[in-house]
Amino acid sequence: MLNVVILAAGLGKRMQSGLPKVLHPIAGQPMLAHIVSTARQLQPEKIIVVVGHGAEQVQQTFADSSDLTFVVQQPQLGTGHAVQQAVPHLARGDDSQTLVLYGDVPMVQPKTLDGLLKANRQGLAVLTEVLADPAGYGRITRDAQQNVTGIVEDRDATPAQRAITEVNTGMLAATTQQLTGWLDQLDNHNAQNEYYLTDVVALAVKDSVQVSAAQPQAAWETMGVNSRLQQSALERAWQRKQAHDLMAQGVTMADPERFDLRGTLSCGRDVFIDVGCVFEGDVQLGDGVHVGPHTVLRDVTVAAEATVHPFSHLDGAQVGAAASVGPYARLRPGTRLGERVQVGNFVEVKNSSLGADSKSSHLAYVGDATVGERVNIGAGTITCNYDGANKYQTIIGDDAFIGSDTQLVAPVTIEQGATIGAGTTLTKDAPEGRLTLSRTEQKTIFGWTRPRR
Ligand code: UD1
Ligand code: CA
Repeated sequence: MLNVVILAAGLGKRMQSGLPKVLHPIAGQPMLAHIVSTARQLQPEKIIVVVGHGAEQVQQTFADSSDLTFVVQQPQLGTGHAVQQAVPHLARGDDSQTLVLYGDVPMVQPKTLDGLLKANRQGLAVLTEVLADPAGYGRITRDAQQNVTGIVEDRDATPAQRAITEVNTGMLAATTQQLTGWLDQLDNHNAQNEYYLTDVVALAVKDSVQVSAAQPQAAWETMGVNSRLQQSALERAWQRKQAHDLMAQGVTMADPERFDLRGTLSCGRDVFIDVGCVFEGDVQLGDGVHVGPHTVLRDVTVAAEATVHPFSHLDGAQVGAAASVGPYARLRPGTRLGERVQVGNFVEVKNSSLGADSKSSHLAYVGDATVGERVNIGAGTITCNYDGANKYQTIIGDDAFIGSDTQLVAPVTIEQGATIGAGTTLTKDAPEGRLTLSRTEQKTIFGWTRPRR
């Protein structure tokens, strides 16, 4: 039986922000959402989040997460005091363990936490690491036999203790029963007059409980966020990790340092991703897909061998095999492009399907339309789908040809094989296989001269 307590009451003063610190994002999601989702993977009995500063806003953000228990810590008298607030809510039982995590150390991974929980054989395990520059952290003290004897906070440490490079990451796991006993004994006789969670280590040693130490799998997992600079450092570390994972699966990245994944990305074989792309929501790229530089893809599926050219923005779209999108294309939600479809520069498509081999190569708006196969949509074509109150459908049959600069005033149907003359304002259906156009007769005024000054 496992309890996870997430400490998230701190102010985060150095963020210089109106937003509570744990709501600041890493990879597009609030930090607290990351640590909560990691906690869930451990399948605990309870997840208790200790909130304080901005408590209402934090709870509001997670209003849909009924599996979380929020506890308000007011005032904030230290990390030990924070965990004390969670005590009445802990699930109890003979085998009950409690794991303490931090809302501002959001990217620790389940495997590392598994290691910490496994290390907790005797009743207490702490997650430690060795840092070249340990300044600011609590230091791990050990005796001659290398047994952990305590944690001393930077501000309370002697010069000799400050030289210790093994630091406390803050995360720990303990037997619930013993932890609550030690929490009862905490005092605030220290440099900050706070109730330190770290003092449970010395209390455990006093009870002859051996304290184990586990280490994270990767150094970036324990990076904390106290400032915008640290936030960006963790963001880069996490993005680098995601990029490396994708490359290990066979994706080519022009530059893994210029890659941003704010959701999930699954890739087939031999996918190429150029610099400066942002992936949001759930994105799936098929075999051989080529994503050009500076594109944004959110909730998009791109089938095999398709190309997304530079500076395109795709949101809620499905792109067919071997299709070509952009440069400078915008695909909005509900767009479905068939095989080999070409959508070129400055073309916007919304809530529309384009059948196989259809083309809209330049400057068009295709909204609420059902477009057949092998259709050519000329430059400057606009579906007039909105009358200011309601939206209407445009239906275009297979093999239709829409001349340039036409307005298709919906609801309207262009039957298959129809041709629409350039410059037409189409207000009535266009019959199959015919040329339909609306155009005022062209005339030339002979004898006209330009005005002169
Ligand atoms: C803490 C540890 C230190 C460790 C460091 C790692 C203690 C006493 N010290 O120090 O050994 O090296 O983390 O980053 O635990 N919080 C509350 N309520 C409070 C105080 C803090 O919820 O009353 C939360 C904060 O929001 C934060 C976390 O606990 O998420 C850590 O608090 P912080 O004040 O940053 O502790 P440190 O001084 O960094
Ligand atoms: Ca801290």
